[in-house]
Amino acid sequence: MEEQSSRSKFSGKIGFVLAAAGSAVGLGNLWRFPYLAAKYGGGIFLLVYIILAVTFGFALMTAEVALGRKTGLSVSGAFKKLNKKWAFLGYISASVPIIILPYYSVIGGWVTKYIETYFTGQGTAAAGADYFGGFISQTWQPIFWFGIFVLITALIVFFGVEKGIERVSKFMMPILVILSIGIAIFVITRPGSSAGLKYYLIPDFSKFSSTTILAAIGQLFYSMSLAMGIMITYGSYMKKDVDLEKSVHQIEYFDTGFALIAGLMIVPGVAVYSGVENLDSSGPALMFQVLPQVFDNMPMGHLIGGLFFILVLFAALTSSISLMETVVSIFQDKLKISRRLLVVLVTIGTFAIGLLSSLGFGPLSFIEPLGAGTSLLDFFDFISNSVIMPIVALFTCIFVGYVIKTKAISDEVKISSKFHWEKLFVVMVKYIAPIGLVAILISSVLNSLGIAKI
Ligand code: PFF
Repeated sequence: MEEQSSRSKFSGKIGFVLAAAGSAVGLGNLWRFPYLAAKYGGGIFLLVYIILAVTFGFALMTAEVALGRKTGLSVSGAFKKLNKKWAFLGYISASVPIIILPYYSVIGGWVTKYIETYFTGQGTAAAGADYFGGFISQTWQPIFWFGIFVLITALIVFFGVEKGIERVSKFMMPILVILSIGIAIFVITRPGSSAGLKYYLIPDFSKFSSTTILAAIGQLFYSMSLAMGIMITYGSYMKKDVDLEKSVHQIEYFDTGFALIAGLMIVPGVAVYSGVENLDSSGPALMFQVLPQVFDNMPMGHLIGGLFFILVLFAALTSSISLMETVVSIFQDKLKISRRLLVVLVTIGTFAIGLLSSLGFGPLSFIEPLGAGTSLLDFFDFISNSVIMPIVALFTCIFVGYVIKTKAISDEVKISSKFHWEKLFVVMVKYIAPIGLVAILISSVLNSLGIAKI
């Protein structure tokens, strides 16, 4: 039980759903989902994503949360406790947040920069075609804002005020959702939006390929904070009388619903302000290019833009603090040094690694690790989401399906309620998910040997 006592209690008293939703809902929904949807064919990506979310996403999240609640341990301890030979899975999982946190913070820095942009009256400049590219290709500006974001995250974790942040975001999050719906309605009612709307909502099956599934799976893990042990940690804080299955559904529906709304403001936005033909070439810059154009054309748009980015910052922070907490707790379990010193060391490490992603759009842009036009940030994103996370998910399914057996999870779920989706859970974990994941991994490796593009 040593890990129990030494781990931070950041989500101890606060409800599981609130803390887990805070981790899940973040830049993944707003920044990543819309650009992937745009890039991978719109409607067909949406369809694949939704099907995966309610089947695979549900099964994996249930497994992770139940593993945590059953063992009362975070990721590194949970697998080991149930079977010594499987301790390695805890270590692979642990590498994911270590890779994600630095580049997540770089994008968090972009959001922070945009708050400044709107509050210094540069809303119209931000709508200019070169504003975003001009910003990220500089050396110091993006590093400065990235540093600010890491520092805010670190201060929250250092002073242990996550609960306060999670409480504030309990109010901020609904406002963000409502504001996003309002922005989406505004965009959809502009002339020219229908082409974007069709692209986003109507599946074009000719655009379906294994890459669509890979991209959707990677996004699913990322968005729901799966396949990196974080939900195991959250599960370990969950009380035995909380309805586990219902909680998992709530997070899954909220997270997916919000991603769909984000896509609804951004994808048709491209059609209105720059033309649908630009959709499948869009990349990580999409949200930062399209939304300023939307705000610039909206009544009171600059004010709304400023408010919007503040809310996004909160959503990003509840995710980044959960990432940093996880990274700190990983080292805390291994090294016997104080938590605060660890926060300082993790912050320095995060900043150092993140510099690569930040500079990757400027002085280091000649490094194109995944082929022409790709950046170092794309590379870290690809390695974590499309390589390591599918491997972790595959092993987790094998572990649950064949080592401890699905009954162990079912029994845990049934402590708090009936397990309504038990059959789906068992079939997913034992058969469909492992086979699908192996296929996806092979195609991902082949892709990256040839023309890997995330
Ligand atoms: N799920 C978060 C998002 O969608 O922005 C990102 C994230 C947070 C991933 C925390 C992983 C994590 F541990």
